Amino acid sequence: MMRQAGRYLPEYRETRERAGSFLKLCLTPELAAEVTLQPIRRFNFDAAIIFADILLVPYALGQTLTFTEGEGPRLSPRIDRTELGRLRDAVDRSVTEPVFETIRRVRGALDPQIALLGFCGAPWTVATYMVAGCGTADQAAAKLLAYRDPMTFAQLIDRLVAASADYLVEQISAGAQAVQIFDTWSGVLSPEEFERWCIDPVARIIAEVRRRTPEAKILGFPRGAGTLLRRYAERVPVNAISLDWTVARDYARDIQSHRPVQGNLDPHALRAGGDALLRAVDATLDTFSGGPFIFNLGHGILSDTPIAHVEQMLARVRGH
Ligand code: CP3
Repeated sequence: MMRQAGRYLPEYRETRERAGSFLKLCLTPELAAEVTLQPIRRFNFDAAIIFADILLVPYALGQTLTFTEGEGPRLSPRIDRTELGRLRDAVDRSVTEPVFETIRRVRGALDPQIALLGFCGAPWTVATYMVAGCGTADQAAAKLLAYRDPMTFAQLIDRLVAASADYLVEQISAGAQAVQIFDTWSGVLSPEEFERWCIDPVARIIAEVRRRTPEAKILGFPRGAGTLLRRYAERVPVNAISLDWTVARDYARDIQSHRPVQGNLDPHALRAGGDALLRAVDATLDTFSGGPFIFNLGHGILSDTPIAHVEQMLARVRGH
C-alpha cells in the first residue's frame, strides 16, 4: 500500500512518539527500520517501502525542514533566484546516510522473498514544496516561478535531477531492489509544462540511475496525469507505472499494454469499507489482473482508515 507505514497503525504512533518528531523518526535507522517492518509483520505484504520522506532531499540540499502536527511540512527559506544560489550543489551525505543505514538494516531483517523499495520525490513535486515553503492546494508558487523565471526554475529542477539520481543510486547500493519516483502534483501541469517539468526531468533521473546501475528497477507515479499518462508511458522508461484511481478503465488497459501497472484503489473506498470497498477492489482486479500488475492503492492510505478494512481488502485480493 502507498504510505503503508503510518498513523493508521497504533504501533507506528507509539514508535513516532518515542522518536519525538517525524524527522527524527526518519533519520534514526533503528526506529525507521522498525516502522518499515511493522506493516509487513501485520499484513505480510509482498514488498516493504523504506520509511523516509521525499522532503529529505531539500533538507540535504540545505533547506531547514520541520513537520508540525496537524500542519504538515515547513521548509525555509523559500526558494527563489537568490536562495537557489545559497543551496548546496549536491546532497550532504551526512544527512542522507541514516536512510541508507535504514535500508541495510531492513534488508538484513526482511525475508528474502519480500522486496524492499526505496523512493524519492520527482523534481516537480519536490520543487512545489521548496518554492512555497509548505504544502499548497494549487502549487501556485512553483507554477508562477516556472512561468516568470523559467531559467531559475530550470536550475532548481536540474539540481533536483542530479541530487535525486545520486540518492536513488545510493539507495540501490544499500539494498533497495526497486525505487519509486513520486510525482504527486504532476496533474496540475499543462501539457507543455508536463513535458518540461515532469517527463523530461524524470527521464533524466532514470537515464543517470541506469548509467550507474544498469539493472535498476524503477516505478513512476505521475499522479493526476490523466490523458497525459500515455505520453508518460511512451517517453519515460520506467519498469512500471503507478496509477491513481481517476483513470478510465479502457484508457488504463491501453497504458498496461505499454508498461506494467500498479494501483489503483481509491483510498476513500478503503476508508469506507463494506460493499463499496469490495466493489472497488473487484473493479481494479477485473481491469488489470489479465496483464502485468501490482495491486496497490491509487494514493496514500488515509490516517483514519480502520485496520479491519485493510484486512478486508487483503482477503478479497488474495482470494481472487
Ligand atoms: O509509503 C510509506 O510507507 C513510506 C513512507 C513515505 C512517507 N512519505 C512517510 C510520511 C513516503 C513514500 C512518503 C512520500 C511523500 N511525502 C510524498 C509523495 C507521495 C504522496 O503521498 O503523495 C509527499 C508529497 C510527501 C510530503 C509529505 N510528507 C507531506 C505533505 C506530509 C504531511 C501530510 C500528512 O499526512 O501529515 C508528510 C508527512 C508524512 N510522510 C507522514 C508519513 C507517514 C505523516 C507524518 C506523521 O507521522 O504524522
